[in-house]
Amino acid sequence: MNSSEIHLPDIKVALVGCGRISDRHAQLLGEGQIAGAKLQAVCDIVPEKANQKASLYGVPAYSDMHEMMEKERPDVVTVLTESGNHARNVIELAHYGAHVVVEKPMALKLSDADQMISACDAAGIKLFVVKQNRFNLPVVKLREAIENGRFGKRVMGTVRVRWCRPQAYYDQAPWRGTWALDGGVLTNQASHHVDLLEWMMGDVDSVFAMSRTALADIETEDTATVLLRFSSGALGIIEATTAVRPKDLEGSLSILGEIGGFAVNEMKVWNFVEPEPSDPDVMENYSVNPPNVYGFGHKEYYDHVMRAIRDGGPNLVDGLEGRRSLELITAIYESVETGTEVNLRFKPKRVRLGEVPRSS
Ligand SMILES: NC(=O)c1ccc[n+]([C@@H]2O[C@H](COP(=O)([O-])OP(=O)(O)OC[C@H]3O[C@@H](n4cnc5c(N)ncnc54)[C@H](O)[C@@H]3O)[C@@H](O)[C@H]2O)c1
Repeated sequence: MNSSEIHLPDIKVALVGCGRISDRHAQLLGEGQIAGAKLQAVCDIVPEKANQKASLYGVPAYSDMHEMMEKERPDVVTVLTESGNHARNVIELAHYGAHVVVEKPMALKLSDADQMISACDAAGIKLFVVKQNRFNLPVVKLREAIENGRFGKRVMGTVRVRWCRPQAYYDQAPWRGTWALDGGVLTNQASHHVDLLEWMMGDVDSVFAMSRTALADIETEDTATVLLRFSSGALGIIEATTAVRPKDLEGSLSILGEIGGFAVNEMKVWNFVEPEPSDPDVMENYSVNPPNVYGFGHKEYYDHVMRAIRDGGPNLVDGLEGRRSLELITAIYESVETGTEVNLRFKPKRVRLGEVPRSS
């Protein structure tokens, strides 16, 4: 019998947090869209939210994550709570021995990210940070081209997130737009693009940033501009705002190299000095706009997680990768607060992200 004929039991996944993003996770796992995995139970401290999701997929509902872990003993627990609660939840869950998936951003403080990584290492479990956009088709293609050296020397990388998040969006829940639990456009909406920029361009040496709260009535920034210097010598720009009106305008990443240029989300440009025969098909096959703002990737993301658990495959999205983009975002906030260029490999001193403001 070869290995493909051996029927392994499904990997059982439990969800902590039944808010907006849980729809995506519950649907994929609850409808059997992830091969070899299934939804086992759901939990929310608001019982109606857990009950609603549970009845949709015919799984048990809990309002206490510890009770769920003890009774259900899942193989994987996915944490979908407010960003500022991820660290506490993951650290408390680690000792149950289930692998942990945590939504982005993994944490709001570097010290919390370090403790999460240590807790999961000590428990001998894998930690996965949701970075589903790394699995979007054009992004996978771009990464492949970079790994194959098709860009030559990289010159510049640019991120543009020009989205519309009106006041009603922030008013949906009290944690949104706060320093203690959410962060601003850089931490929440643009964090995927910032992660992709660093993934494609390599380590960052320094950043200089400015931000403002232009239109929304929130504590954190809704608009930011950042200049970056990469260790390779390449330069970068991040332009991020949720203050576009009346609707989303653009979410894009451009990589310019000595011998090639690229822009995503929809593949817009794919130009190389030395073309390959498959290049025209790339434009045709990858010029697809994602069906929603979350991109295509949650399904591919979970497939990757299951391969890493079942076959010991690589984990592209582990705690260290999550920490890496948090470090960059933290350095950007340090620059905003100090008004100076901040070199990475720094100790945050004036960053407000993850802190309860003194006045409140
Ligand atoms: N990957 C993406 O593209 C993407 C998209 C949206 C949101 N997110 C992330 O997902 C997270 C949740 O966002 P959301 O929009 O779903 O928020 P939400 O406010 O809609 O949901 C959070 C839920 O967690 C529950 N909760 C809090 N503490 C809990 C606990 N200890 N046990 C059980 N339930 C608990 C809350 O009651 C709430 O229902 C955030 O970190 C956000 O950044 C990621």
